[in-house]
Amino acid sequence: MLIIDGKKVSSDLKNELKVRVDLHRTETGKVPGLTVIIVGEDPASQVYVRNKAKSCKETGMNSTVIEMPASTTQEVLLAAIEKLNNDPDVHGILVQQPLPKQIDEFAVTLAIDPAKDVDGFHPENLGRLVMGHLDKCFVSCTPYGILELLGRYNIETKGKHCVVVGRSNIVGKPMANLMLQKLDETNCTVTICHSATRDIPSYTRQADILIAAIGKAGFITADMVKPGAVVIDVGINRIDDPSTKSGSRLVGDVDYEGVSAFASAMTPVPGGVGPMTIAMLLKNTLQSFERANSLQ
Ligand code: GUN
Repeated sequence: MLIIDGKKVSSDLKNELKVRVDLHRTETGKVPGLTVIIVGEDPASQVYVRNKAKSCKETGMNSTVIEMPASTTQEVLLAAIEKLNNDPDVHGILVQQPLPKQIDEFAVTLAIDPAKDVDGFHPENLGRLVMGHLDKCFVSCTPYGILELLGRYNIETKGKHCVVVGRSNIVGKPMANLMLQKLDETNCTVTICHSATRDIPSYTRQADILIAAIGKAGFITADMVKPGAVVIDVGINRIDDPSTKSGSRLVGDVDYEGVSAFASAMTPVPGGVGPMTIAMLLKNTLQSFERANSLQ
């Protein structure tokens, strides 16, 4: 079984991005800039934001983190976004989710200039993706990272049956639409399963490519996978494990041990899809910079 090494691919990709950033610095004196806004003190979000800033600096891009208290009003947050929309040194704006209850996440998504929406969450970007204009939008980072992995591992997708389990706006919906496109990398027949799907295993067993984005540890078991399938695990779930020093560990939505006996290729957790998400965020930020400066 082939282990799809997201850590290695993301490292290769970040090195490639750094070469381009360095070139732009030399030729224009400017570099891409990403601003991340974090509202409140959710510990998981703090770790994600720190990692995004670190990776940004590693590739030579500018990184700014704006920390706002959990009591921030929607009005104040929207005003901060508007300022960044008008700042020519900011090429990417990311507002870390989840947001506190008093803030409407959709209103925030709509407030970000689509040309700086490196998360790819704005309906204009998702709409362009659905219509197949991938070169004129930002693709949501996790699905984009999966597409990059499939491409770099030369995994045949044309005419294959791809089953996506999960229908979120961030992962499931853009993923299914990417796999549906008439692209060299995709061109699949696509099925989406979700919480109201009857008999999920009857669908997953038909998958040549199975993408699990459910958010439940070990949901996809060996009996749900067709022998030879390619299995992509988007899940990041923390479970108790007294045998580890911290008392817990990260697992995916796929029962790795069981499924690896049947799959032809699989992404591990950690070290699969996760590292790709940040790399694609940087790729989107660089692309935004290149579009803004007519460097494409
Ligand atoms: N929270 C968890 N993942 C993400 C992400 O990719 N983008 C944003 N904005 N928030 C998140």
